Amino acid sequence: MKVPVPVVYSVLFVASILARSVQAEPQLVVPDGPPKVVSFPFTKVNKNPYNIPYRNRRFRKRADKTILQILDNADYLYYANITIGTPPQNLRLHIDTGSSDLWVESTESTFCQDSSNPCERTGTYDRSSSSSYEYVSSDFRITYADKEFSHGDYAKETFGVGDAKVTGLQFGIGLETTSSEGIMGIGYDTNEVQVDWLGKDPYPNLIDLMVEQGHIQSRAYSLWLNDLDADTGEVLFGGIDTAKYKGKLHTIPIDTRKGKSSPSEFMVTLTGIGLTNNISQTMSLTSSKFGIPVLLDSGTTYTYIPTSLYQNLAAELGVQYVSRTSVVACSLRDYNGTVDFDFSGFKINVPFSELVVDAFDIYGYPITFDNGEQLCFFGVFPESSSDGSYVLGDTFLRSAYVVYDLDNAEISLANVHFNVSESDIMEIGSGKKAVPDATGVENPVTLEFTGTTLPHDTPAITQTRNVQATENPSIAAALLTPTVGGVIGAWLMMWSFLA
Ligand SMILES: *[C@@H]1O[C@H](CO)[C@@H](O)[C@H](O)[C@H]1NC(C)=O
Ligand SMILES: *[C@@H]1O[C@H](CO)[C@@H](O)[C@H](O)[C@H]1NC(C)=O
Ligand SMILES: *[C@@H]1O[C@H](CO)[C@@H](O)[C@H](O)[C@H]1NC(C)=O
Ligand SMILES: *[C@@H]1O[C@H](CO)[C@@H](O)[C@H](O)[C@H]1NC(C)=O
Repeated sequence: MKVPVPVVYSVLFVASILARSVQAEPQLVVPDGPPKVVSFPFTKVNKNPYNIPYRNRRFRKRADKTILQILDNADYLYYANITIGTPPQNLRLHIDTGSSDLWVESTESTFCQDSSNPCERTGTYDRSSSSSYEYVSSDFRITYADKEFSHGDYAKETFGVGDAKVTGLQFGIGLETTSSEGIMGIGYDTNEVQVDWLGKDPYPNLIDLMVEQGHIQSRAYSLWLNDLDADTGEVLFGGIDTAKYKGKLHTIPIDTRKGKSSPSEFMVTLTGIGLTNNISQTMSLTSSKFGIPVLLDSGTTYTYIPTSLYQNLAAELGVQYVSRTSVVACSLRDYNGTVDFDFSGFKINVPFSELVVDAFDIYGYPITFDNGEQLCFFGVFPESSSDGSYVLGDTFLRSAYVVYDLDNAEISLANVHFNVSESDIMEIGSGKKAVPDATGVENPVTLEFTGTTLPHDTPAITQTRNVQATENPSIAAALLTPTVGGVIGAWLMMWSFLA
């Protein structure tokens, strides 16, 4: 058996070795037989979320019980335009799989009334001008991992999401808040803040009511965030869009917290991390026994992995950790390689280009290394906490088509097609194996996790542009070791294969 052993060469060596390896590149293996792809006419998705004419495929189950919500990718955060109240008021909410409450900014909030108009983009809700407003209680309190909070009232309202109208949905009204955007948490109702903090029973949240009111068949939805530089992504409640991913969906179980009988957050087991270089050679950075619980969280901008594993990855790619920020030469995005995330044998391959995020200083200018090479953020950060609160955020999720099946406590994954406008929507049914086009991985690895500070009610919202704003970029650049800026060294990697 051949075991790949990592060897890092200097640039000069790499040049000559690459020349040899390219010549020695093995023939592409083309599978026998006709391709397994059936081709049929596409339905183009209209980008207007309130008027989406997706037609049912004639030879497929009717996909009428799905709700498509287009998401705006603004500064690498994902927003849904929704409506609230009667007559409808327009709001833009940050979509978050890591929390379970929906809350909105209010015209009554002193924060929003500031002359700088901080809530302008998300919009403010005026309960006094809605006939469907219903007061519930005054104990709404949510605090996120980045210490932002929102306190106020719970109420019930009518919401418009995609082309669906959801009535009587409980939500929070932010009366006292530090955050400039309302949030649409779409996690398990058992993870609502009032369950943990007030010891109350869960109330039916958005996904629960979509099922209860007959819009979708079971509590399941798919998320396609799309390319880093794309303007929009999609969340599809009650359905999957087979045009948006490669191959078939692979299903793994959601992990359960120790002592609980069912999960309340989207935690799954990551069984390995590896790399693929530009001539399709792969290497693993983890042992065969590796396994950690990771939260699939659209509300977190970056990805957080154990420090030792981060150090291995950083060494291979020339990434440096400076002023609590993960940075790399922007030119890494031009290299055709992937970081491979393994889930019980199925891998999501995240292109380097999806992990290299533009960095700006506090004045909005690009940051450069000492040698003039442009500096970027790297989308993976070290997480030192021993309680296992590792998060696969947007820098990972953009490369994955993810189906969250709350009822069956399963996640289905596939590698995405970026930037496709075609659409082929299939409905998710109810009961076991409700997700179409999905097969379970052969030997799923599950973990019971114990963490006390897991972000179960505290989605970490990291504003990309604010990471550097709190640092002095010239100090950060000066701290960088000159070799990396100059050589972009280790990411020019090669592996020798020893018998
Ligand atoms: C959401 O609303 C904003 C503001 O009206 C608009 O600019 C944006 O295009 C809308 N997004 C979608 C996906 O319709
Ligand atoms: C997707 O579209 C964006 C915006 O047009 C573009 O910058 C990006 O390179 C595209 N990505 C791929 C993988 O084609
Ligand atoms: C792989 O990357 C190296 C270093 O950037 C480059 O010289 C080489 O041409 C690339 N090979 C292929 C097949 O893209
Ligand atoms: C990148 O590499 C993959 C295989 O690793 C290959 O299929 C693809 O064609 C390459 N893309 C470019 C632009 O060279």
